[in-house]
Amino acid sequence: MRSFQQTRRGFLSSAAAAAAALSAPAFVSAATLRKELHVAAIGVNGMGWSDLSQIGTHAAVKFVGFCDIDKARFDKADAQYPGVPHFADYRELFSSLADKVDAVIVSTPDHMHAPIAMEAMRLGKHVYCQKPLTHTVWEARQMMLMAAKSGVTTQMGNQIHSAAEYRLGVQLIREGAIGKVKEVHSWVGVQGRQYCGRTDRPEAAPVPAGVDWDLWLGAAPSRPFAPDVYHPFKWRDWQAFGSGALGDFGCHILDPVFGALGIRNPGAITAENGGTTEEVWPGPETVTYEFAGTDQTAGAIKVIWRDGGLKPPKELAQLPDGTELPGAGSLFIGEGGNMILPHVGMPMLTPGSKFAEFKKPDVKGTSHWHDWVDAVLAGKKTTDGFDYAGPLTETVQLGNIAARLPGQRIEWDAAGFKANLPAADAMLTKQYRKGFEVKAV
Ligand SMILES: NC(=O)c1ccc[n+]([C@@H]2O[C@H](COP(=O)([O-])OP(=O)(O)OC[C@H]3O[C@@H](n4cnc5c(N)ncnc54)[C@H](O)[C@@H]3O)[C@@H](O)[C@H]2O)c1
Repeated sequence: MRSFQQTRRGFLSSAAAAAAALSAPAFVSAATLRKELHVAAIGVNGMGWSDLSQIGTHAAVKFVGFCDIDKARFDKADAQYPGVPHFADYRELFSSLADKVDAVIVSTPDHMHAPIAMEAMRLGKHVYCQKPLTHTVWEARQMMLMAAKSGVTTQMGNQIHSAAEYRLGVQLIREGAIGKVKEVHSWVGVQGRQYCGRTDRPEAAPVPAGVDWDLWLGAAPSRPFAPDVYHPFKWRDWQAFGSGALGDFGCHILDPVFGALGIRNPGAITAENGGTTEEVWPGPETVTYEFAGTDQTAGAIKVIWRDGGLKPPKELAQLPDGTELPGAGSLFIGEGGNMILPHVGMPMLTPGSKFAEFKKPDVKGTSHWHDWVDAVLAGKKTTDGFDYAGPLTETVQLGNIAARLPGQRIEWDAAGFKANLPAADAMLTKQYRKGFEVKAV
């Protein structure tokens, strides 16, 4: 016989569940009751394969649709999950599968994140979307607003957010290991134009069989296909499709900087580089962000981004003799020491003499992909939802606006969504090709 306590607990939890079901959007309760999450993956190779194969290891996940514009790129997904219906056009996937899909993975090139993810959220689907969350500043703001309006569970695909290395780095700063932070330097070795090997448009060439080039272009203005410069992977160098080195790595490397310091929107951005073109992103660059102070900072703070082989002056890090700065990562300069957080590696506190006895807390990593699935099933938010990833991506893409106006200080009014320079305001958004528009929330 069940005890009163058990019965009462059961009653309370079912009453709470019933109340939650009445107040929660229908799609949350459907997935929660089913305890099985029906997922569609859009862009199933490259990082898309990593995403779906990681998400697919969650016991609750069942794939119900795969979408890719290139027939040759379904091979790995099909071998692992045979029989899942194929689509070339995400719009057809949404209309054909309608209420069969609870959640969507978006792992296409950057220029298609917002058109696909905004439509998914409009339809009430939970979204896991690759980094950078969007291709423009305006899209990042709209994604954040749409996530809030729709109530779906979202996560950006900067998976190191959930790794032990980054979590420990964030915790050390928040616990005051190096005191208030005075300045941060972040860097990555790659540069914004290194993959396609050119700065002007290539000659047209026939589209390979099985590739739907028009769907690959999607929202971007039409241009002819050319091999080995756009699809796959090399699109990231082109301003029309990708976001350069800052866009590729900023949402990874600046994530623990945002998490540790609690910064959200820069007040000013200035970029230096060797010049840019209308087509590809610049080579080596420095982008200086100015943020208002937070509880973790010693007043207003600069976050200085470098890429293409540029690094901060090594002496700032007070490294032990014979040690070099990592190839990518961040250097936090605090009032009581420094923290070097490699991308990806365990944080190191310097100078060594000061931290010889320091015991770092034991911080565990989790699966970023499973965390999203668990949050969807529980009807909860993630730590990397679009409320957080939106401003992080706005910051990254504001850096890319500054990159196209080198030497000019952009003052940014985040609340008013306005810069001091008309040329910067003009780059906050872009034109969409018909059929792939992103509508304001
Ligand atoms: N989190 C990470 O560590 C990480 C690593 C690499 C890439 N990424 C991100 O993942 C995304 C994809 O990058 P990638 O390097 O895998 O690119 P990729 O070009 O190698 O792969 C993209 C895949 O999407 C498909 N695709 C392209 N347009 C599509 C569309 N409109 N609809 C459906 N499918 C489409 C392509 O055919 C391909 O299979 C980018 O946003 C990138 O920034 C993240």
